[in-house]
Amino acid sequence: MTTTIRTESELRAAIERELPGVRADLERLVRIPGIAFDGFDHSQVERSAEAVAELLRGCSLDVRVVRSGGQPAVIGRRPAPPGAPTVMLYAHHDVQPVGDLSLWQSDPFEPVERDGRLYGRGAADDKAGVMAHVAALRAFGDALPVGVVLFVEGEEEYGSDSLERLLKEHREEIAADVIVIADSMNWDIGVPALTTSLRGVVNCFVEVRTLSQAVHSGMFGGAVPDALTTLCRLLATLHDDAGDVAVAGLVGAEGASVDYPEDRLRAEAGMLDGVSFIGTGRLTDRFWNKPAISVIGLDAPATGEAPNALVPAAKAKLSVRLAPGDEAAKAYAALTEHLRRNAPFGASVTVTLEHDGEPCVIDATGPMYDAARAAFRTAWDGVDPVDIGVGGSIPFIDTFRQMFPKAAILVTGVEDPYARAHGPNESLHLGEFARVCLAEALLLAKVAEVAETAAAD
Ligand code: BES
Ligand code: MN
Repeated sequence: MTTTIRTESELRAAIERELPGVRADLERLVRIPGIAFDGFDHSQVERSAEAVAELLRGCSLDVRVVRSGGQPAVIGRRPAPPGAPTVMLYAHHDVQPVGDLSLWQSDPFEPVERDGRLYGRGAADDKAGVMAHVAALRAFGDALPVGVVLFVEGEEEYGSDSLERLLKEHREEIAADVIVIADSMNWDIGVPALTTSLRGVVNCFVEVRTLSQAVHSGMFGGAVPDALTTLCRLLATLHDDAGDVAVAGLVGAEGASVDYPEDRLRAEAGMLDGVSFIGTGRLTDRFWNKPAISVIGLDAPATGEAPNALVPAAKAKLSVRLAPGDEAAKAYAALTEHLRRNAPFGASVTVTLEHDGEPCVIDATGPMYDAARAAFRTAWDGVDPVDIGVGGSIPFIDTFRQMFPKAAILVTGVEDPYARAHGPNESLHLGEFARVCLAEALLLAKVAEVAETAAAD
């Protein structure tokens, strides 16, 4: 079977050969505005799934577009050579909404290259993840040393609501020995990373009501509480004066193995001069190992149209990130309790859940993880990968782990700290993308080698 495994130099050459085509296909995917959120044109998600299916058919996979009450996912399979392991390659083809178009320097759905980066919604998150898998498959052609199951989801950015059902319905088809989730990030440009922990998430709405209708702000203001001021006071209780989360019952820890340079984080986040950080402890603990609460939306009269009236009801959307070790249901209960207990002026407070997801810690030890690290090191010309946590969430990793407890889960990714995923002007660093593609090809070769060694022992 060793004949099917190709050498490093062969794989380097093959990836180099494939990159122009991979880039063109990535651009084709970026032109499809497939957004799974409610209220968007879901026929575009269908188009996007079909485009992914076509790419996978081109890699000689047996392809099906499947759904289970939600948006379409694409499953592509190629059986393992005798005795070889099967690797699941995950990515998602749906993207985030683009937000305020005026903040984009170019059309989000018309990919353009500037300074070595490809700009466009989904150019990084996660269409480049899809294409990294395709690149690795194309590099091997018929000589793929492992079995593969491509699993390309269509509603990751909208909470993967139907994913669990879908996984259960297709369990046999997608079962694998190793799972590669290409939806995270690297440590820096030129420095790869293996993601070993992710935060969980609770997205919810909190609505405050103080009045049965709007009334004159001059006649009643001063004695009668308006809902918007009341909501602001309630939201202000979520953090203490240092900016740490002040909700009792949420799990948080310290112990990140690396720190993050403050000036680098300032630059990456685009923090304005004079704005300080919030919270205490190492920066990496603050966004990997502790909870975070952000107000991400507000329903209240728009300033341009606001009459001189007390606002009777106001609603905020919260994005709560949960530290590894926390549980979504417990955290939501703690948050609800906090919001009810701190209701100012006896106001009515209603909390509703949008969606939640569990945090996850991966014990990244053993031969498959070493194989991944070695593949990264080679692809980055000798630079060792950093084990990182991330503040973002991929809730279904926990589901994968429960369904396939023996599988090694490798969380990789195409993003770099300047990718601006979810924001305006999202982009992919093309030089890093080439390394990601090579690393994945090397990884597939190494997975086959590890399995052979284990079988020979
Ligand atoms: N690719 C991200 C997850 C991620 C974020 C990895 C930051 C590494 C660093 C993923 O597409 C994502 O955005 N997930 C959502 C999940 C939510 C909708 C449940 C998130 O984190 O908001
Ligand atoms: Mn993603």
